[in-house]
Amino acid sequence: MKRLAILASGSGSNAEKIMEHFRYSQKAKVSLIASNKSDAFVLERAKKYGIPTFTFTPKEMESGELLGKLQAEMIDFVILAGFLLKIPEDLIRAFPNRMVNIHPALLPNYGGKGMYGMKVHQAVKAAGDTQTGITIHLVNENYDEGKIIFQAATPVLPEDSPETIAEKVHALEHRYFPEVIESLV
Ligand code: GRF
Repeated sequence: MKRLAILASGSGSNAEKIMEHFRYSQKAKVSLIASNKSDAFVLERAKKYGIPTFTFTPKEMESGELLGKLQAEMIDFVILAGFLLKIPEDLIRAFPNRMVNIHPALLPNYGGKGMYGMKVHQAVKAAGDTQTGITIHLVNENYDEGKIIFQAATPVLPEDSPETIAEKVHALEHRYFPEVIESLV
């Protein structure tokens, strides 16, 4: 049984889909939900599933407390699901090929610093792109540049707004992220 930790900074709708997916799995279980925001809604979602939570400050992440917690919990895979802080190198090195992120666009487009949340969908709209999608990738020292393990696309129609683009992307994330994690572990 593989032990998964999810790192999330916000609402956690993806985290919830993953918790749900592995609830009765024989292969893996979500063993920890960790957040840098003590009021993140993802922590409420974790409670609903009876999954332990851990909150930390950016400083505590830098000084190794998060890594210590992940090791104490014997975590095998780290899932970033809407996690907005840059991961320290020691943490990345501790989970080689075992840390995965989801990005709400078709990387390498719309990746990198400052490209998160609605900013991504606004940029897609402003560029007049006819499609967008999701990218699930391994995490390396350069954030959005790790090996891509899965992508899925959805059309962007002229009448789409950044908000409707976000909805389409979220639907793809919810549909695919849990099963891609399952095939990875
Ligand atoms: C998702 O769109 C994910 O791709 C991005 O942050 C968002 C998180 O949404 N990195 P949620 O908190 O899972 O609802």
